Amino acid sequence: MARAESHNAMPAGLPRHIAITMDGNGRWAAARGLSRSSGHKAGLTPVRLCVEECTRLGVEALTLFAFSSENWSRPADEVASLMGLFLSAIDGEVDELDRKGVRLRIIGNRQALSVRLQAQIGAAERRTAANSGLKLQIAVSYGGRWDIVQAARKLAAQCASGELQPAQIDERRFAAALELGDLADSDLLIRTGGERRISNFLLWHLAYAELYFSDRLWPDFDLAEFTRALEFFAGRERRFGLTGGQVHSAEREQGLQR
Ligand code: IPE
Ligand code: IPE
Ligand code: MG
Repeated sequence: MARAESHNAMPAGLPRHIAITMDGNGRWAAARGLSRSSGHKAGLTPVRLCVEECTRLGVEALTLFAFSSENWSRPADEVASLMGLFLSAIDGEVDELDRKGVRLRIIGNRQALSVRLQAQIGAAERRTAANSGLKLQIAVSYGGRWDIVQAARKLAAQCASGELQPAQIDERRFAAALELGDLADSDLLIRTGGERRISNFLLWHLAYAELYFSDRLWPDFDLAEFTRALEFFAGRERRFGLTGGQVHSAEREQGLQR
């Protein structure tokens, strides 16, 4: 019971932490006879829309999958144009994000990024660090397995230096060593583009996420589809391993306490 309480078993309302795999840019572009890069550029519009809507609704955190560890193996010109797009998008959007009170962070293996992009990311993060609105994470050069390995390495180094005992490593401490260690687990994953897979996104953090797969290609993702995803989430009964009966009696107790 203690475990379920720590997950706060109750009917889902608004998600605290939405994760989105923004897939389908290439197919969107191909259908219009455009370059894949044009598809990636067109993907900026729904990013703005999601930030706007999460801010309006008071969602705590939004994590967007923009470029995976595996995407480095794409053709060099596509990788270069994506890196250029990240540079120009951060540059072009940071004022507006700051104005909205958004705290921006980039998660992933940033050592793999150019020095210029790293510097620009650092500047945008510092500029928005004290903002108390939406916590926006963009996953670039991110892989769920990479994240788990870097956390294990951090903890191993602390054990080797004597700062930590192996027996002190528990789920809470491990989670804190991961990227997003200071945020609630993602409770809703949206993936556009029709594929129903995780593609090495937040492997640890999605343990109990509700999964919403949309056939929309990312550049076509709009407010109506985002609202459908939120309605889907609100309609889920989140059980965290309990029986439906247990969840309902916990709800009744909570209702009485109110
Ligand atoms: C997602 O769109 C963006 C990245 C992975 C960088 P895709 O580029 O994967 O688009 P499709 O899946 O080929 O349509
Ligand atoms: C997942 O999309 C990664 C991002 C959206 C950034 P992919 O297009 O790379 O995933 P797969 O290859 O279809 O699994
Ligand atoms: Mg894809």
